[in-house]
Amino acid sequence: MKLGVFDSGIGGEAVAAALYTTFPDASIVTVNDRANVPYGNKSKEEVISLTDAAIQPLLIDSDVIILACNTATALAIESLRARYPYQKFIGIEPMIKTAASLTAARTIAVCATPATLRSERYHGLIDKYGSSLKIIEPDCSTWANMIENNDINHQIIKATIQKVCEDGADVIVLGCTHYHWIKDTIIEYANGRAVVIEPSEAIGRRVRVLLEQ
Ligand code: DGL
Repeated sequence: MKLGVFDSGIGGEAVAAALYTTFPDASIVTVNDRANVPYGNKSKEEVISLTDAAIQPLLIDSDVIILACNTATALAIESLRARYPYQKFIGIEPMIKTAASLTAARTIAVCATPATLRSERYHGLIDKYGSSLKIIEPDCSTWANMIENNDINHQIIKATIQKVCEDGADVIVLGCTHYHWIKDTIIEYANGRAVVIEPSEAIGRRVRVLLEQ
């Protein structure tokens, strides 16, 4: 089985690591676009064109291409599916449905890039699963760059996470794969007040279902 994994930067490797656990025998090829990261502050047109260019090597022989990037999924997956109808794609999106099923406080925080939070796909998810919830969208606009450059300002992350917990969120959705790398830190700062969720395991299950179809 050949899996192609794309992210703008190191978020893809976090997802690929989780996929290796689920599919130890798979051949997993990861591509990124470090020259243009972060995508989260770019326009839809830019993200479509950059993602399209970056995934070209994966189009040759991937059984499925995983857009391990919430931003590229939000802005580009529909164009890519239309342009490459014979290629299977799986995207990654903020886990609003799961968060809605977990929150007792009816309040969740979604940590994601500005482009994801602005996107129609994200708003569609909120309308479908989160319309009865209070949704806190903290400013995480600098996080992807910090994580990409391994230059993490812990004060910023800590203050953000503590604030969403003080504002009542009992579920924190990691809606950017870069943040998977600091999941343990976020759990520590939430200090038991909120559960932290991200979709690595769910992606493995989705890949299995798609390839069995
Ligand atoms: N890792 C990406 C995501 O899941 C995007 C980070 C960025 O390039 O801004 O949204």
